[in-house]
Order: sequence, then C-alpha cells, then structure tokens
Amino acid sequence: YTAEIDASDIEKGTYAHYMLKEMDEQPAVIRNIIQHYQNDAGDIELTEGVRSLVSEADRIYIVACGTSYNAGLVGKDILERIAGIPTEVHVSSEFGYNMPLLSSRPLFVFLSQSGETADSRAVLVEVKKRGYKALTMTNVPGSTLSREANETMLLHAGPEIAVASTKAYTAQIAVLAILAYDIARANGKELPFELMPELARVATIMDSIMSQKELFEDLSDRYLKTTPNTFFIGRGLDASVCLEGALKVKEISYIQAEGYPGGELKHGSIALIEDGTPVIALISQPKTNLNIRGNVKEVVARGANACIISMQGVEHENDEFILPHVEPILAPLITVLPVQLMAYYAALARGCDVDKPRNLAKSVTVE
Ligand code: G6P
Repeated sequence: YTAEIDASDIEKGTYAHYMLKEMDEQPAVIRNIIQHYQNDAGDIELTEGVRSLVSEADRIYIVACGTSYNAGLVGKDILERIAGIPTEVHVSSEFGYNMPLLSSRPLFVFLSQSGETADSRAVLVEVKKRGYKALTMTNVPGSTLSREANETMLLHAGPEIAVASTKAYTAQIAVLAILAYDIARANGKELPFELMPELARVATIMDSIMSQKELFEDLSDRYLKTTPNTFFIGRGLDASVCLEGALKVKEISYIQAEGYPGGELKHGSIALIEDGTPVIALISQPKTNLNIRGNVKEVVARGANACIISMQGVEHENDEFILPHVEPILAPLITVLPVQLMAYYAALARGCDVDKPRNLAKSVTVE
C-alpha cells in the first residue's frame, strides 16, 4: 500500500490552499525582511552596490506587472514622501513600447515576485541597451531579472505558489520602505518615525488580524458571496490598496471588481451603483478621512451596500470594522489583509479554484 500524497500536499501542510498559507505567512515574512536588512545595531543595512546605484539617481522608474505593479504604486508614495525622490510607476507592457521622457539620471526598479515576467524583462533589456542602471526586487535569487540587473534586493518571502500573489505584495512594500529610509538617511532627511520597530509592530498586528479570519469570512459572506460586481474605494494610499483588492477579487472569485479613487467615482463610474451594489471603503489616511466618508454617503444615497474598513486614529462612525493603528504610510501593509481574506473567502464560497484560477498563470514568461 502506498499513501497517495504528493510533495505539494506536504508543503501545504494542513492548509486547504496555498493562498491561505501564504497570507498567514505575512507576519513571518515581515520579520524575516527586518532581519535581513538590519545590522547588529538595528540600523538599515543595504549593500554598497545598491547604495551607490540609488545615490546617483535623480528619479526612480518602477516597472512591474499585476500585483507587483500595485505594490509599486504604494512604493511611489513612500519613496516620494520619505526619501523625497520623484518616482514614477509603469506597467511593463506599456513602458516597453511607450517610454516616457526620462530624467537625466534615471534608476529603474523592477518589481517582480518571480523575476521571470517576460514583459518586465523586455523593458530591462531595452534600458540596459540604452546604458541605464537597474535594480531588481524579487523573491527569487538567480532569476532572470535578478541576474540581468545591476543589483538585487531580495524579498525573502519564501516560495509563493498560489497564482494570486499575497505575501510578495506586502514584502515588496516593506522592502521599498527600507530602500526609501536608506535613501532618506543618506541624504540627511529627517525621518518621521523609526522604520524597523514600526515594521515589527506591523508584523504583530498582522498576526492579530490573521487570528481573526472568521470576521472577514463573515464580511465576505455579507458583501461578496452572491454579487456580480463590487467596488473598492479609497483615497491616496488607500486607493492603491483598493486596486489590489479589486485585482484579488477578480482573479480568484471572478466577480467584476473595480478599485477606484473615491473622489473620481462621481465622474462616471457611479452610474454603475444600483440597489445593493457592494462598495467596500478603505479609510486609513487621516487627511482624506472626511472626503472618503462623503464619497461613501454618495454611493449609499444611490442604493449601495457599503462596508467601511478603517484604522484607529481616523475618526470613525458606528458599525465600521476598525483595524489597529500603524503609521499611515505603512497602512497598506495592514489594510490589504482584510481584502485578501475577503477575496479568498468569496472564491471559496463561490466554488472557485482558489490556487489555480482560470486563464491565469503564476508567472507569465511570454510577451
Ligand atoms: C502574473 C501573476 C500575477 C503577478 C504578475 C506579475 O500575472 O498571475 O499574480 O502579479 O504575473 O508577476 P511577477 O512575478 O513579475 O511579480
């Protein structure tokens, strides 16, 4: 008698899906990143190679696809606000054929979980041909994008198997924040808070969210289980997380989902709101708290079934789901967890193949 177990079942352990396991690993991944990027004194330590690359740059061009692109949008805000370096984010398949005007000393940062995405590689080949420098942030040492770039920063997230990316997203944001802090310090900029202890706190809060999954399963049941469509709305960094939330929901539960900046809804998309349309609002940024609440009222007045996920530190109303406070610039590391979980439970409830959604591949190695 031979037990019918294959290697992948063993790696998955007791988890029903890789996606669930990988979401659960996020606190450990953040801790792993802290360990890899700090020295004994607790200071951020990047290699000399990475430091000299970024010190020469007058502008950063982040190039990526899918979830990595969404992480790049968050990274842009962090790099601009913390390091004061102008940063653009581009979709690889567009950038390759429609290259924008470049600054005089551009640095290209390729974000790629796999390090093998063909659209991103095509851009890397082109920028190298033009003599520019590139830094790759990837989860896979020795991957094509890592080998071909001048420098690599690893994500240290461990293998990601589920097609829908989760821990690579949070890892990319954490590593981008570390890069931003290092640039800021090198340029003598004032740092708003200490990054590594705050990332450690983020990990602890992630643990507490992941230990209350049933709350988000319940939210998912109430808002996503049977709907044909949904909106995620937010402003600033929250809007970027909304794009990732909508992508997760589309990828694995096949619900038509849009991530939208709350203030832009009224210029067109609000026409899609009908009685009962689920709208999930993320509110972690104090400065736009009231604006986004105004947008929630606008959709509720048109029949939407609105759910607010906010963060301690922004003034809130009753009946909201309130997440523990972290520094607003790192809030995406926390607010993305509920939306990942809601997408997961929606896919489960709708009988979808969570780890291997239709029409998608983990790594797209053709253009
Ligand atoms: C595929 C995957 C996505 C991923 C994207 C970019 O489309 O299905 O989950 O975000 O590729 O992958 P990369 O490995 O470059 O981050």
